[in-house]
Amino acid sequence: MPYTKSIMRANRRQILQASLALTVFAWLPKSVAKAADETAHRLDIRPATAELLDSGKPKTPVWGYDGQVPGPILRMKRGRRTLIAVTNHLPQPTTVHWHGLRIDNAMDGVSGLTQSPIEPGETFEYSFVPPDAGTHWYHSHQRGWEQVARGLYGPLIVDEDEPVDVDRDLVIMADDWRLQEDGRLHEASFGNVGERAHGGRLGNVLTLNGKAYEYLQVLSGERVRLRLVNCANARIMQFRLAGVAPWLVALDGQPVAAMRLGDRAVRLAPAQRADLVFDVTAKAGAELAISEVSGQKPLVAGYLQVAENEDTVKQRGDALPVLSENGLPMPDVKNARFFELNMTGGAMRFLKSAVYKGKSLDGRTLAQDHGKAWAMNGIVGTALEPLFSALQGESVVVRMKNDTAWPHAMHVHGHHFLEIARKPAKSFDYSVSGSALPETAPWRDTVLMQPDEVVDIGFVADNPGSWLLHCHMMEHMAGGMVTWFEVHA
Ligand code: C2O
Ligand code: CU
Repeated sequence: MPYTKSIMRANRRQILQASLALTVFAWLPKSVAKAADETAHRLDIRPATAELLDSGKPKTPVWGYDGQVPGPILRMKRGRRTLIAVTNHLPQPTTVHWHGLRIDNAMDGVSGLTQSPIEPGETFEYSFVPPDAGTHWYHSHQRGWEQVARGLYGPLIVDEDEPVDVDRDLVIMADDWRLQEDGRLHEASFGNVGERAHGGRLGNVLTLNGKAYEYLQVLSGERVRLRLVNCANARIMQFRLAGVAPWLVALDGQPVAAMRLGDRAVRLAPAQRADLVFDVTAKAGAELAISEVSGQKPLVAGYLQVAENEDTVKQRGDALPVLSENGLPMPDVKNARFFELNMTGGAMRFLKSAVYKGKSLDGRTLAQDHGKAWAMNGIVGTALEPLFSALQGESVVVRMKNDTAWPHAMHVHGHHFLEIARKPAKSFDYSVSGSALPETAPWRDTVLMQPDEVVDIGFVADNPGSWLLHCHMMEHMAGGMVTWFEVHA
């Protein structure tokens, strides 16, 4: 009777939560074998309701993949073609972006750049071969500031060829929602230009896997892999796990040399991921808090509920979990082509003027008439010309200068990159607050930049097509902080 203790003092909601947590475990790959070398999925995008608040409180109308928030786990095999038929039952056009996957440009899901949006009632079939194992995610890339905030995101896991030696594999999709008393989304703030010019549209309710309190069950003695994803529009989160001693083993889906977190929190900017591995040493009956600690007070968002392990516990000693590398090409930094990206605007350093759709406009007009607040290289929003054109295989270094008073989560499509340098000399930032850092820079697809920081990123432009480079804070992107580059075959 391993759950006796928690059930005895659990209220009805907690029991409900516990059983919901079990359904999370039971998330099976939604896949059916189609051809020997293909996997097929279906995703129906539709309005639904979600119980984001405590029980007894009203439910929230959301938009969900398969009507769920988060959407179902899509599990894929590295190097194996995956087909995903997406049907749009929303009252708006949409697209799906497979965040972190270095796939064919035509499948990148960027409305207006790589495809036209999927109209209501239409089905679009995505088809791609994921090259990298790891923790990724999928989300809307059409009016993301609204559609992601309404719930259009889900986990995308590409399994390693060699399974990692763990007993349990868990995912946490973290999000903050702005809800009214009546449980509804605060729709009046969608598109608010003031928030675009500040830190974005922050929520007032934190959920893990769409629940105000997530209960994830683990057995004592198990080794657990926990995949953390920040799905919020704009909030930078920091997570701390009580009662376990995790190793950080991957960032943004790519393996890093395993590193003990100690008492440090894992910081995740919007869209960033971190994979942790830890052993459950607590006794059955323990409830280990999962807290978000970026605010003044830690906010407990869920628990690892430890139950009795009836099986023999596998003894692993101090052996570190090792994920196999995906083998990304190393940029030749010395001979790379060099480009600059100057990020300007936002509250406190308001744009004087910038070019929008080919016209130079003053900051007031940009904000009041167009809802724009940010510029990159003096241009607001996707420019007519790309930031740069590279030949396939060329090494590229982009120096991003955050000349604004706000942090930004800069994301590159279709490529992972290395952070080569960062000024002011805070040295490398691995999105883990604290001091001891791994020896080599990790591959990332999203990098957090603080005000006035300059970050050089380097990568081999090896994926032909048109790719976005933007701030993943949805309101910043909508407010103009987005550009693109091309890679020619
Ligand atoms: Cu996760 Cu352009 O997005
Ligand atoms: Cu930003």
